[in-house]
Amino acid sequence: MLALKFMGLGGLVLFGCGWIARRHAVAARRLGVPLLVASRDLARARAFAREFGAADAFGAYDDAARDPRAEAAVICTPHDRHCADTLLALGAGLHVLVEKPIAPTVEEADRMIAGARDAGRVLMVAENFHFMPAFRHVHGLLTSGALGALRSLHLVARGYRQHSGWRLAAGAAGGGVLIDGGIHYVHNLSWWGGEVRRVFALRPPQTVELGGEDAVDILAELAGGIVGFVSNSLGARGAPRVQWSSVTGVDGTIFADNRGRFILSRGRGRMRLRLFRRDSRGHEAMLRAFADAVGSGRPPETDGRSGRRDLAVVLAAYRSVAERRPVDLAC
Ligand SMILES: NC(=O)c1ccc[n+]([C@@H]2O[C@H](COP(=O)([O-])OP(=O)(O)OC[C@H]3O[C@@H](n4cnc5c(N)ncnc54)[C@H](OP(=O)(O)O)[C@@H]3O)[C@@H](O)[C@H]2O)c1
Repeated sequence: MLALKFMGLGGLVLFGCGWIARRHAVAARRLGVPLLVASRDLARARAFAREFGAADAFGAYDDAARDPRAEAAVICTPHDRHCADTLLALGAGLHVLVEKPIAPTVEEADRMIAGARDAGRVLMVAENFHFMPAFRHVHGLLTSGALGALRSLHLVARGYRQHSGWRLAAGAAGGGVLIDGGIHYVHNLSWWGGEVRRVFALRPPQTVELGGEDAVDILAELAGGIVGFVSNSLGARGAPRVQWSSVTGVDGTIFADNRGRFILSRGRGRMRLRLFRRDSRGHEAMLRAFADAVGSGRPPETDGRSGRRDLAVVLAAYRSVAERRPVDLAC
């Protein structure tokens, strides 16, 4: 109970017992936040609850959301479910941490933001990259001026993976690799580099079966003329598992491992290596930030508007691919 009070969170309902729900369950268990587990399948919820020591299990999201112990929900469902599930949770009086992307369309994102505002509840996007210790360290170096004026960012996330399930259905994800894993890098692009003003995106021929594109490359113009490049692929057979993000300023470069295990930075002096071991994917820090927003009433850093901004860049890149031209983002 002490941990609970410290966290400022009562029961945390997990909507869906899939892959990412496991990460949230591990973080909640470590932080002592009591879990209520909800699945469309009661047997699945019960098995999940046993595995993670949850307080209770439910065979319907609605039942869990209306349980008197529930105070907040984590939406771990497919993208085209995020809006309806978020509104369901808000309607039950819960605060919401919704997985990325906030939604597949800005119209849905706007309904979610308005719904949270009207209900007086927190809406936070589970953009865990924002809470990864290594990436926060990069942000800290950049804001302290360690690289001088920024010039460019190169964010490369290329691997090979064959998905199954809802990601193969056109529409459930709202796109392919970019709106799924790629939106993390889109987030870092503006978090580290500044507002994205214009994008030009290309998509190579498809190799992996997916509801949308299996790869995309984006050239972006950021505020102040900074250049961003995001290369994202699930169809890059043979690509090494070490994938990287680098930021260059007039005085040096930071090279970050995309899994958040290490950072190499070099300004005008010697190369520095920094290792990160604890909570390297940021799920505990993210849950703490959510609890802090719930307890303090202060908006979280990755609030609904932040998720909407990232989504807008993704959708502009999709438009650029479809129309074969650069696309400006509305300011
Ligand atoms: N931050 C990250 O690094 C990260 C990584 C992976 C995924 N994600 C995000 O997390 C969310 C879920 O992705 P996931 O990889 O965990 O997917 P997943 O393993 O397929 O889990 C999704 C869960 O949603 C529930 N669900 C509700 N309606 C469904 C439907 N119509 N079809 C299929 N499942 C449905 C199911 O749970 P029940 O059957 O138990 O109800 C299912 O297990 C997505 O928004 C994704 O982008 C984030």
